[in-house]
Amino acid sequence: MPAQVIPEKIIQGVGFVQKNTISQFSLRRLEEKVAIITGGAKGIGEAAVRLFVKHGAKVVIADIADAAGIALANSLAPSAAYVHCDVSSEEDIEMLINKTISLFGKLDILFNNAGILGNQSKRKSIIDFDAGEFDRVMQVNVRGAALGMKHAAKVMVPGRSGCIISTASVAGFMGGLGPHAYTASKHAIIGLTKNTACELGRYGIRVNCISPFGVATSMLINAWRSCEVDEECTDLEATGYDHKEAEKMEEFVRGLANLKGVTLKAKDVAEAALYLASEESKYISGHNLVVDGGFTSSINCVGL
Ligand SMILES: NC(=O)c1ccc[n+]([C@@H]2O[C@H](COP(=O)([O-])OP(=O)(O)OC[C@H]3O[C@@H](n4cnc5c(N)ncnc54)[C@H](O)[C@@H]3O)[C@@H](O)[C@H]2O)c1
Repeated sequence: MPAQVIPEKIIQGVGFVQKNTISQFSLRRLEEKVAIITGGAKGIGEAAVRLFVKHGAKVVIADIADAAGIALANSLAPSAAYVHCDVSSEEDIEMLINKTISLFGKLDILFNNAGILGNQSKRKSIIDFDAGEFDRVMQVNVRGAALGMKHAAKVMVPGRSGCIISTASVAGFMGGLGPHAYTASKHAIIGLTKNTACELGRYGIRVNCISPFGVATSMLINAWRSCEVDEECTDLEATGYDHKEAEKMEEFVRGLANLKGVTLKAKDVAEAALYLASEESKYISGHNLVVDGGFTSSINCVGL
């Protein structure tokens, strides 16, 4: 393994390296790994794509936002490729796995991150429950993750290794943080993660999920806009957003989080995914890694 000389002060705190040298492998935590990241064209997925590539992985970006996905893949080539994939379609998922194997020879990591919030109109009451809308959200968020797990497991089981991560949410274990369909779908992802981990552990495959709090991505900003505008907003297409809107959103989230002085960014969620994808978490499976600045631990805080 080639080693590079690095300044003493950078080594501080990295206990396992030889003095004055550090293996490049230890700096690149996904060297020689092949990953698929669904919903990888934007937001949290995009941050994960960039971070995984930085850490040596070959990454397939799977999304329906073709222009953004292709541009991102081109900017990271030859370490990334784009495949159009609607995660709610089993045909698309099968094709995605096959394409990944034909491009990069194997699959080590699946990051099931694609998701939609669903209708953010003001009519959120259960009395206005829309079964079609519920099905649509469940199809992308839950069916999509389950199909990903199924077809990833098919290629991971024979190799007796692999890692599956899904993006759940703080709305996946608490009420009152999102629309009913979204909340139900994220609860389902945490359950699906635990059940699949139980089954696949015997093959050395780890299955985990991540539950972020609010990140100022197009998903959350669209929701924010629809709360401010009194009209029906069904997944406003990614219309782009300016810094001011993102800052406003971040300020709102900072106000709710228990941990002060930090702002949750897409990259922070990507770092959690990197941890779960890498050897550092080799004994962690069936886990829901909450990335919420203490929000869900302190929501009933009485000031003790
Ligand atoms: N932003 C937050 O505050 C937040 C908090 C908790 C959990 N999450 C979850 O994080 C994940 C990523 O969300 P984000 O905030 O980055 O949103 P985003 O809207 O920025 O990105 C979502 C990506 O998923 C893609 N996508 C949507 N439907 C798809 C489909 N059917 N097939 C393939 N790709 C599809 C979109 O094109 C987009 O690129 C989602 O699962 C979301 O529920 C987000």
